[in-house]
Amino acid sequence: MMEINHITDDQEAPMDLLLLADPNQQLVEQYLQSGRCYTANQKDSIIGVYILVEKSPGTAEIANIAVHPDRQNEGIGRKLIDHAIAESENLGFTQIEIGTGNSSIGQLALYQKCGFQLQSIIHNFFTDHYDQPIEENGIICKDMIRLSKKLVPRG
Ligand code: ACO
Repeated sequence: MMEINHITDDQEAPMDLLLLADPNQQLVEQYLQSGRCYTANQKDSIIGVYILVEKSPGTAEIANIAVHPDRQNEGIGRKLIDHAIAESENLGFTQIEIGTGNSSIGQLALYQKCGFQLQSIIHNFFTDHYDQPIEENGIICKDMIRLSKKLVPRG
């Protein structure tokens, strides 16, 4: 059985998984410090992770989400996003956002299946902030696509 737990010690965060979603370790460390980190655990292994941050008053952001490569496409990512939505509502947020690359076709599909709607584009975000070029699905990753979903706060 899979459990999703909030971890309070940054040292316990699975950096290898977090770097799968975002290769900029400096950025990861920054939002890990300011945000809340949740891990999906099965037996004694961490099979997934996400980080929730307060982007602005009332708005949460999933700054990072990753599932272990051996366990992708089993529905774990969707469970983590549903958990992040419920957790944000419990924390009193009225909106949740997520950003991904223009080349991340599967992620864009998943986030829309989870109820997120396209919101805006930050042009050249990845070419401006990442040292190494990123390419996925034969597409150069240049722009950040921002998606958002309205929440029903319970906090
Ligand atoms: N077209 C249509 N649908 C697609 C496509 C595609 N090309 N690719 C994936 N999907 C859909 C699947 O059909 C599935 O939907 P379904 O539940 O209706 O069948 C869904 O996307 C995949 O769902 P999960 O199995 O729940 O996803 P997974 O457990 O693999 O987690 C994740 C997704 C987190 C993106 C994982 O693949 C991963 O860790 N990737 C590497 C790291 C990464 O890219 N993280 C996100 C970066 S952006 C950020 O962190 C804010």
